[in-house]
Amino acid sequence: MSSVHEWIDANRDRAVEELIEFLRIPSISTDPERSDDMRRCADWLARRLGGAGFTRTEVIPTGGHPVVWGEWMGAPGKPTILLYGHYDVQPVDPLELWETPPFEPSVRDGNLFARGSSDDKGQIFMHVMALESYLRQTGRLPVNVRILFEGEEEIGSEHLTPFIRKQRERLAADVAVVSDTAMFAKGIPSLTYGLRGLCYMQVEVTGPRRDLHSGSYGGASRNPLLALATILSGLQDRDGRVTIPGFYDSVRPLLDEERREFASLNFDEDGLRKEMGVEELWGESGYTVLERMWARPTLDVHGLWGGFQGAGAKTVIPSHCGAKVSMRLVPDQDSAAIGKLFTEHARRLCPPGIQLQVSDVHGANAVIVPLDHPAIRAASRAIEKAFGRAPVKIREGGSIPVVGTFKELLGMPTVLAGVGLPDDAAHAPNEKFHLENFHGGIHMAAYLYEELAGM
Ligand code: BES
Ligand code: ZN
Repeated sequence: MSSVHEWIDANRDRAVEELIEFLRIPSISTDPERSDDMRRCADWLARRLGGAGFTRTEVIPTGGHPVVWGEWMGAPGKPTILLYGHYDVQPVDPLELWETPPFEPSVRDGNLFARGSSDDKGQIFMHVMALESYLRQTGRLPVNVRILFEGEEEIGSEHLTPFIRKQRERLAADVAVVSDTAMFAKGIPSLTYGLRGLCYMQVEVTGPRRDLHSGSYGGASRNPLLALATILSGLQDRDGRVTIPGFYDSVRPLLDEERREFASLNFDEDGLRKEMGVEELWGESGYTVLERMWARPTLDVHGLWGGFQGAGAKTVIPSHCGAKVSMRLVPDQDSAAIGKLFTEHARRLCPPGIQLQVSDVHGANAVIVPLDHPAIRAASRAIEKAFGRAPVKIREGGSIPVVGTFKELLGMPTVLAGVGLPDDAAHAPNEKFHLENFHGGIHMAAYLYEELAGM
């Protein structure tokens, strides 16, 4: 075992160099022009797994971007782990705000800056290094390992659910392991036990059949942009509560014990406010900010289009406009059911004579991982060994759609052992990964496989 950790230390620089190679591939899943890069990235990963000693690897096509699959099943009698990660990354705009180009990784002050460095290529690569350390130093792994790296997480994992249904046997395992979350704060190792779900909708509004001169026709037609504004403003009240009837019906209330546990984390609200660059924190009244971000559902508008966006003025009543809206969900809300409630409410809010089209973009259900599961306790020990202190138990406001699918389709819990930091700027310009966490994360992954062998 110690030789494994010595190997990890001895290969520290090589790990960073290879991660840089991985990060150079612009695997932006949402961009149709990058589909060749997506394929190249999947091939790179599969090849790299082969280099680590995985004899069975495959790049498997789906209806969308390919899945990278692999397995090492040489530990009969030991548990089987399903390691999941995503090799796709978010778009890079606004490009001009990056200090160094997003796909030319650069190390500054102990951080590696590049798109995907923290979310999630750096965290995938920790596991690849940890697996390689065992295979090279001992010729085997402490547990059986199956690998599922997908290329569509950032766009809702649309083709992954049918893939999992079809490949049930090749993915069968006792527990899933995912490193795609962040620590509570720098220097505070964390174990995440909850993720929010998501219901992402698109709203489109059409009025007159073509754009109209607002002088000639103003007074004769409803304005689609105002109709859209009416709909959007009817989704939330002034106290930050979502006003869709039935929205809260299946929300699992926060227990007093959970509220006490959240409070005991002494979350730095003012630090968050400064990091965000806002005058005040705002959200549903009656809850602390941690409660609102981790355990309460929310609604946000992500984009609006329609009408005149250029410089100066143009007097027009636009024919068509739209918006992207999503709701973060908590247990036990069902994403599909919430989508229906949203659509019905938007219809009620839509003024007469305006055509409304509401479509479902993607969705995922929230998850809570049972903290008393042996795999979670094993992860807690592994984190402590790697980072020198027991992890705090946290929830996360973001979503990882497949985690709910693992539970629903494969009946499997997921260990969420991520080592990102809250200020890694995931999805934003100048995304970075703290190299100390990368290195500690490789040790953590190695301890984790050993701890899971004895669970
Ligand atoms: N790695 C994130 C999930 C996450 C977010 C972890 C914030 C920790 C902090 C993941 O890649 C992600 O961004 N997921 C999307 C999923 C969506 C597109 C279905 C999200 O949460 O928006
Ligand atoms: Zn991610």
